[in-house]
Amino acid sequence: MTGAILKLLDKFGHERPLPEPLPGDPVPTFRAWFDEAVREKKQDNPNCMYLATCTGDGRPSVRTVLCKAIDPATGGIEFYTNYQSRKAGEIEQVWRAAILFHWDNKDRQVRLEGPVMRVSGEESDAYFRSRRWESRLGAWASDQSRPIASRKELLEKIGRTVDRLGLDALGLLAGRDVEIPRPAHWGGYRLMPERLELWQGGVGRVHDRAVWARDVRVEGSAWSVGAWSGTRLQP
Ligand SMILES: Cc1cc2nc3c(=O)[nH]c(=O)nc-3n(C[C@H](O)[C@H](O)[C@H](O)COP(=O)(O)O)c2cc1C
Repeated sequence: MTGAILKLLDKFGHERPLPEPLPGDPVPTFRAWFDEAVREKKQDNPNCMYLATCTGDGRPSVRTVLCKAIDPATGGIEFYTNYQSRKAGEIEQVWRAAILFHWDNKDRQVRLEGPVMRVSGEESDAYFRSRRWESRLGAWASDQSRPIASRKELLEKIGRTVDRLGLDALGLLAGRDVEIPRPAHWGGYRLMPERLELWQGGVGRVHDRAVWARDVRVEGSAWSVGAWSGTRLQP
């Protein structure tokens, strides 16, 4: 290669390249990117992610949800929702989903695909307890993804829920610790990635991309995961 061409290639030098050689396990880098986004908080909801699900006959849909935990050992991703929502219905038809994180200010994205299972009731209880009372009440009152005639009717439904659960409305407003149990129709899922792609944007769209794959098996209510194998991809 001529000196001129080598000089031109300098233009494509990457500020923050993925490690070379690629690490055997992509999860620590993924978690470092996630933690950095959450710590710096340069965008609202840095823990938000796009969750794609699919019906049994192949009709996809996507929506935003919040990532509530990433297991350091396996990369399993936890999110919480209504078990009777559209997304939950689709998950429970195929038990697989895809997730995308995008941190625009970092020019980074992470894509994950894999099987999904419900988290345990204890895990859902623990997370539910940590939510603000408005969100706990909303989880009872909203039949997520179902139609309702008007906003007024929705608010009336919240009012009826306060009555039905015998909650102390003034106590809630005063910030007292009023017990609101988790409804059975609300809880968490965990996606266990069997494919994980790290993407770091680069000059001239010559991005830095690598994907890792592994086997994931569901055995009863437990996961067994194989070793990752990583490959660099063209942008
Ligand atoms: C930033 C953001 C975070 C959200 N987080 C959640 C979440 O963690 N869980 C959830 O059920 N819905 C969340 N939502 C609402 C969903 O995007 C969606 O409207 C809802 O879950 C119903 O989706 P579905 O009808 O496809 O099931 C969030 C929306 C936004 C904009």
